[in-house]
Parts: sequence; structure tokens; C-alpha cells
Amino acid sequence: MTPLNKLIEFLRIPSISSDPTHAADVRRAAEWVAAELAVLPHVEVVEAPGRHPLVYAESLAAPGKPTLLLYGHYDVQPPDPLELWHSPPFEPVIKNDNIYARGACDDKGQTLILLSALRRLIERDGRLPCNIKVLIEGEEESGGEHIEAYVPTHTEKLAADAAVICDTEMFAPGLPALCVGLRGIVYGEIHVQGPAQDLHSGVYGGVAPNPMMAMAEIFTALKNRDGLITIPGFYDAVRPPSPEETRAWSSLPFDYEHYRKTEVGSSELTGEPGLSVFDRTWARPTFEVHGIRGGFIGEGAKTVIPAVAVAKVSFRLVPDQDPATIVDQIKAAVLAATPKGITAEFKLLHAAPASSVDPSHPLIAKAATALTQTFGRETVYIRSGGSIPIVGLFQQALGIPSILMGFGLPDDGLHSPNEKFHLPNFHKGIDTVETFLLSL
Ligand code: BES
Ligand code: ZN
Repeated sequence: MTPLNKLIEFLRIPSISSDPTHAADVRRAAEWVAAELAVLPHVEVVEAPGRHPLVYAESLAAPGKPTLLLYGHYDVQPPDPLELWHSPPFEPVIKNDNIYARGACDDKGQTLILLSALRRLIERDGRLPCNIKVLIEGEEESGGEHIEAYVPTHTEKLAADAAVICDTEMFAPGLPALCVGLRGIVYGEIHVQGPAQDLHSGVYGGVAPNPMMAMAEIFTALKNRDGLITIPGFYDAVRPPSPEETRAWSSLPFDYEHYRKTEVGSSELTGEPGLSVFDRTWARPTFEVHGIRGGFIGEGAKTVIPAVAVAKVSFRLVPDQDPATIVDQIKAAVLAATPKGITAEFKLLHAAPASSVDPSHPLIAKAATALTQTFGRETVYIRSGGSIPIVGLFQQALGIPSILMGFGLPDDGLHSPNEKFHLPNFHKGIDTVETFLLSL
């Protein structure tokens, strides 16, 4: 079977890690990955109660050669809203050199780049040119508890010179990039309670506290109209980008209007005045609201003061913000912003610090050379506003940097309807990983 046929098969599995009704599909995806890794001498599916499986594999038959730890995730984000997809999210469709499906880019297509390069090398040369450990998780999109417990307790088993991760984006079509910085995240829910039960908004409107209104007040107390987060102490530890980094970013090919129109699709960009888009998305923290539950959201009108409201929110963190400190600050700020008659609480779901990679690491240079060779253009060093929590843990627990070579494109629609992966990037990704491993 070709790598493309395999990708189609992999994408058909709805491995949505955050949705308990898909637990069996998540497991099926883990088993699919394990079968794909069966060309390596050792493969195991690692179980933990109540957690999605990890898949571990290794081939350690290249004495004197470096050891790389390849990481990817086989889980995906929920596909909602379904009605906005042009074709069903788990029935991959190929159109104009792109494959459309949930997880096409993030991260099944990119995980399969790593696995396909291994398979190609083994099938052609009968062996791998360096030592390889593979760790693929199924909870990246939903908190990653399993891998977070596994890595610190298996440091010897996972010992390596560097991790290799394909789960980021190129800077632009045809322009290869190594990502050397990711934002961290604090994800949680704000629970707001007002009256003991839903009330008639005419009869009680004017005296009953409204949790939805309270939620709005809390939001605006946490972030102002300039995009500045107004939580006391929140920016204390923020480390600005170095002058060299800022200079390098300013020479990236970037068209503000094109970005606004084609990627964001809004009439204006928002955020902190006086800062570049790179600063705002890569080097500054943010606060975003993902969804609000409560009250009446059906068709037509219903006049009610809801008893409760729940909001899903997250804060993206930058170096050197400490997630635990930030969580304490958020909790205190939510309490301070709670209007009278209301109780409100921030409940943490998961957190991870920002991570950065030393761009002068020798293996990073080799990766850049492999990218440049495949794409025929000089590799650029960028950051990304997204989060890959394991990168920080690989650094902290294993003491290794992560080589973040991503093959996604800015318009691949990660987490959005009609997510896609550009097939030439899929194939070039496999070539790049192969070239990189052979160069060690
Ligand atoms: N692949 C993404 C992160 C990413 C996207 C990095 C684009 C660079 C460019 C990853 O799978 C992801 O989406 N992670 C989540 C993590 C969170 C749920 C802990 C994220 O960033 O929202
Ligand atoms: Zn993702």
C-alpha cells in the first residue's frame, strides 16, 4: 500500500480523544499506528487505566549513531461544526492536490510522514541509518495526561539525542521552516452560578443576578479592548523576544493584508497596538473564549434568566510564564471580577508551559539542511502560537531539544472545518525525514 493509501485509511478512524463516545475509535487508531510500526524490531501499545494508549517502538541497531525520539499524535480535535464541512470529516477526499479530513495535517498526515520514512528506509536498505525510538500519543488534543506521566518515569528507556516532531507549519507554501518556539497553555472552565433555578426574565428581571451577564463582566475584567490582559501580575515573567529574533522575523516574507483576508478573514486584526503580528501571535500571551454553555440557545425566543453559565477558556503562555502561578492569578482575578449575587470559579483542565529550542543545536542545523535540500529554499526559523505540551517535558525530563519540522501550510485549517493537508508536502515531508536520518 502506498503512503497515500495508508493516510486515507488512517484518516477514516474518528479518533477524537476528548469525546468518551469515541474511545474505541481512539484505540483502533493506536492499534493502526502499532501495526504500521511493526517493521521495527520492537513495538508495544502502552496502556494506563482511564487513559488513551501510547504507542512505543524502537530500533537500536546503529551503534555509534545518534538516537532520535520521533513523536506524533494519532488523536484529533472534534470535527464540529459538521454542517460547515464540504465532505464528511472522516471520509477523506482528494481535490487539487489536497486531502481533506479531520486530522489530515494535525497530526495524522504529519505523524505518517515519520512512519513512512522509517518504513521506506527499512524496506529499501534493510535497516535504519541511526537509532530510533518512536512515541505516538492519543491525547495531545485533550491534555496528554498519559504521556505526561509516562515520560518522567521512563527517562532511561526514552533517552535520546533529540526529539523529532512533525506537528507544526511551514511559514508559507514552498518555504520550509523550523519552529523554535511554541506558546504554552492554561485551559479551563469558568463556572458561574446565579439563581437556584432558571427564572422568568420578565417576572424576575431587575432583581435576579444573571450568570450570562456576569460571565461577560468577568471576560471584560480579564482582558481590555486593546487585547491587554488585566490580571494582576500576569505579565511579570514575560520575556520579550531577543533583538536578533525580532530582526529575523521582520525579514520574513509577510503581507499583512493578505494574511488578514485569507487566513483570518476578518475586517480588522485586533490585539495589542504597536506590536507586529509575529509578536502578538508568537511572543505575547493571550486570553481566548472558546464556547459558552447555559441559558436558552434553541430556535426562536425563550425568556429566561439562566441559573448557570459555563465558559471554556484558555490562556496562551510565553517564556517564562509559570502555568501554576498563572492559574493562581486567574483564580483570584475571576473571584475579584465576580459581581454580587453570583458565585464564579475557574476550574483548570490542563496546563503546559511555553517551550523554546536552541536554534544553534547541531541537529537543528542538519534538519535545516535536509529541509533546504528537499524544498530548494533556505529554511527559516520561526515560532508558532500553538502548543505542543510534550516539547517542554522532553526538554525538562529527558534534557533533549525537539526538532520541530512541520509540513502544514498556514491555510490548512487546523481545528477548523475542511482541514486539509497539501499532498506534495506529505511526500516532501517523507523525503526530508529520510534525507535527515541519512545525514546523521
Ligand atoms: N499541531 C498543533 C499545534 C500547532 C499548530 C503548532 C500550528 C504549530 C502550528 C497541536 O496538535 C495542537 O493543536 N495543540 C493544542 C494543544 C492543547 C490542546 C494542549 C493547541 O495548541 O491548541
Ligand atoms: Zn491540534
